[in-house]
Amino acid sequence: MIVTHLTLSDFRNYTSLDLELKAGPNLFVGSNGQGKTNLVESLGYLSTLGSHRVSTDQAMIRQGQDSAIVRARVAHDGREILVEVQLNRASANRAQINRGAIKTRDLPRYFSSVLFAPEDLALVRGEPSGRRRFMDELLVLRTPRMSGVIADYERVLKQRNTLLKSARSSGIKEGQLGTLDIWDERLVALGTELIVARSTLVTELSPEVARHYEAVAGDDHSARLSTYLSILASTPDDEMQDDRATASGDLAPETIAESFRAALARLRRTELDRGLTLVGPHRDDLVLSLNGMPARGYASHGESWSFALALKLASATVLRRESSVGDPVLILDDVFAELDESRRGRLAGAVADFEQVLITAAVFDDVPTALAANVVRIRAGEVVSDA
Ligand SMILES: Nc1ncnc2c1ncn2[C@@H]1O[C@H](COP(=O)(O)OP(=O)(O)OP(=O)(O)O)[C@@H](O)[C@H]1O
Ligand SMILES: [Mg+2]
Repeated sequence: MIVTHLTLSDFRNYTSLDLELKAGPNLFVGSNGQGKTNLVESLGYLSTLGSHRVSTDQAMIRQGQDSAIVRARVAHDGREILVEVQLNRASANRAQINRGAIKTRDLPRYFSSVLFAPEDLALVRGEPSGRRRFMDELLVLRTPRMSGVIADYERVLKQRNTLLKSARSSGIKEGQLGTLDIWDERLVALGTELIVARSTLVTELSPEVARHYEAVAGDDHSARLSTYLSILASTPDDEMQDDRATASGDLAPETIAESFRAALARLRRTELDRGLTLVGPHRDDLVLSLNGMPARGYASHGESWSFALALKLASATVLRRESSVGDPVLILDDVFAELDESRRGRLAGAVADFEQVLITAAVFDDVPTALAANVVRIRAGEVVSDA
């Protein structure tokens, strides 16, 4: 798919923007702080309902305004749809397709993009929560129904935690434990679905990550993925990931559900003491390894970069493989400045055949000539001239 037209109102530093985009590469250039990232962030939001930079939507509404609008005309196979979201400071966000209201959380069904930015280095070096978000965003893009499963799991988790806390503060009553059993079953059912979906995804992603890592780095360092499952760990401690809890390959739902139940039974005392659910997909991790070592503690800066980039390119490849609406729009925010000449060239080769690639750069010459097409210059939240 491609975005043929983008309109922004009061989004970040854009009062209003009205921009035609082309198939193939589109390059946004401008000095630091002018709005290049803001522009591509708006499209990232349409497909993930989140920003790669902030965890709340408020920061994306222009200072002093109450709401922001992102509207994109998206084309695939000669058909066009209008995808729109309104971010509101004081009320719920709203989404529309072809001017008709839809549930906001259904937006990713209509537009898919894969964004890579310097912040993604945290996928390799940062906390597990970022890697869980990476897996879940990709799951939702691939199987939109999963957004419901994830939302339900989070709700059940919250309610179960509330119950554990209240049981702790009021002394544990038998009656309350009965309710806990009901929540346990729902937690296990939804959690198992999420664990299995993530592991299927990781199995599919892993060879693509290896391939893209080699393509970008120019070297085979055996980049591999597996999943850490907290329900299999001997201790419920996030920081002490246990090798035996690492799984790869497809997992059988029955086995997972059984292990989940067993872990909850084993930890019931501890959970009641701490007032917290200690195992489940909210405590899992995506394990990245290079040459058999965990990338998190061992990879160099350049290797971490290549790994993060490989994760995103692999996502885009997996998405395009199954998509009935064409390729995801590939977004490369400020990537080329970080790469040496040969990596720049290899990356340009790796993205060349995507239907649409949006690139930002502060320095025009950092971008390989093959990608320096459809240049748009940005200054202070405005397009200054289409060069
Ligand atoms: N909610 C907001 N309202 C108004 N302005 C904002 C808002 N959020 C960010 N900005 C402004 O947007 C600018 C940053 O834009 P952006 O991050 O897109 O820059 P950039 O062109 O990508 O720069 P760089 O080359 O440094 O990455 C900053 O000047 C910032 O103050
Ligand atoms: Mg930027």
